[in-house]
Amino acid sequence: MSPQLSDYLAPNWSSLLPVFAAVILLPILRALWCAFYNLFLHPLAKFPGPLTASLSEWWEIYHTIKSLKGDRFNVIQKLHEKHGPVVRIGPNQVSISSPETFHHVFVTKCSSFTKSDFYATIQPGIGPKYAGLFNYTDHKRAMAERRDLQPMFSPASLRQYEARYANQLRELVVAMKATDEVDMFKLFKYLLLDTIGDLSFDRSFDQLKSGEDHQYVIDFNNAFMLIGLRVFSYSQAQVKQYLDQDASKKRGTLMSGFLDPETGLPKDGYSPWSIAISGHGFIIAGSEASSITLTYMLWLLIKHPAMEKRLRDELKTLPQKYSSVDLAKLPYLDAIVRETLRVYSPAPSPMPRVVPQTGFTLEGVEYPPNVSCFLYKFATDVCIRTVS
Ligand code: HEM
Repeated sequence: MSPQLSDYLAPNWSSLLPVFAAVILLPILRALWCAFYNLFLHPLAKFPGPLTASLSEWWEIYHTIKSLKGDRFNVIQKLHEKHGPVVRIGPNQVSISSPETFHHVFVTKCSSFTKSDFYATIQPGIGPKYAGLFNYTDHKRAMAERRDLQPMFSPASLRQYEARYANQLRELVVAMKATDEVDMFKLFKYLLLDTIGDLSFDRSFDQLKSGEDHQYVIDFNNAFMLIGLRVFSYSQAQVKQYLDQDASKKRGTLMSGFLDPETGLPKDGYSPWSIAISGHGFIIAGSEASSITLTYMLWLLIKHPAMEKRLRDELKTLPQKYSSVDLAKLPYLDAIVRETLRVYSPAPSPMPRVVPQTGFTLEGVEYPPNVSCFLYKFATDVCIRTVS
């Protein structure tokens, strides 16, 4: 019998088998192999932690979303209480709560531990061209930029900035006296952002004067969880104006570390774009943590009048005309700043760093190369929960 048209149209199931295998079976087999590898063969297989976390990245994604309600900190704390100082929280990630390891990673061997890819998710745009000092994973570049900025953070430079800062402080006092009730968190945020704008680009945001959020802040708050391109465009505009100024105006600002001291133009290796990226990082890094710390410090002093009195007594010992050098010598003030930072860390995120190619061993734990170490400041502080 000769073949009918329907014979040609009817699917030939056996010839489709390889396609099914490719589309359905292969991904399943791949997922099974990955799960098997992550559970039994991965260099982190011997580390304790939730089973679901070692299987895939989904555990991390789930808790990142839930962390918007503060869930992640409790989860991490409980995991450390259960499993000890090193817990596997992803196929290639561990959370570490040991203060010694914290010190090793961030201080002793800081230059060997690069920032992890996590930092690429907090850039103002996608791709390496949006990476700056705050989120470089390119370590060489980060070290070069840090070296150029180091003189801008020397004690002598910080003393130079005092005059600029004093102007902002005067504005703060005016703003505080203007009404009976003040929102100090808001005013501290204005103070620090106005100051960092002035220190970075020789241009204050003038929020203490205007009493209103600058458009940059409004955009920043709206865009924080998204890609902050509009926020970055503000930094670009500031850098353009800053670079167009006379060279003398640029001296005594943080950004001058990126400029040739003679010409006032970007040094080799820098461009208006790269300076704007770093400026963007400075505005965020320099304002948030400091204003949060000042707010908690003030709040703690209000809650503990005996401490407030002791601090006032210490401040009375200052000479009539004092500087930051005199303030730095006050032990009680120093203790209060440190204790505020310890108990109410303004930088509670994990700050993940990648284990170098050589791996490392500390406190009897062998960390394999390329593993992401999540180091939460709060997790290292065993006393934190006892302080009200
Ligand atoms: C209470 C005040 C502050 C605290 C607690 C604080 C804390 C931190 C922490 C924990 C990091 C590391 C973040 C990470 O790696 O994920 C960091 C980085 C940074 N901070 Fe601050 N910060 C403060 C004030 C400032 C100020 C005033 C400035 C600028 C004037 C600043 C500029 C930076 C920069 C540029 C970085 C990136 C540095 C690098 O990786 O090379 N910070 N800060």
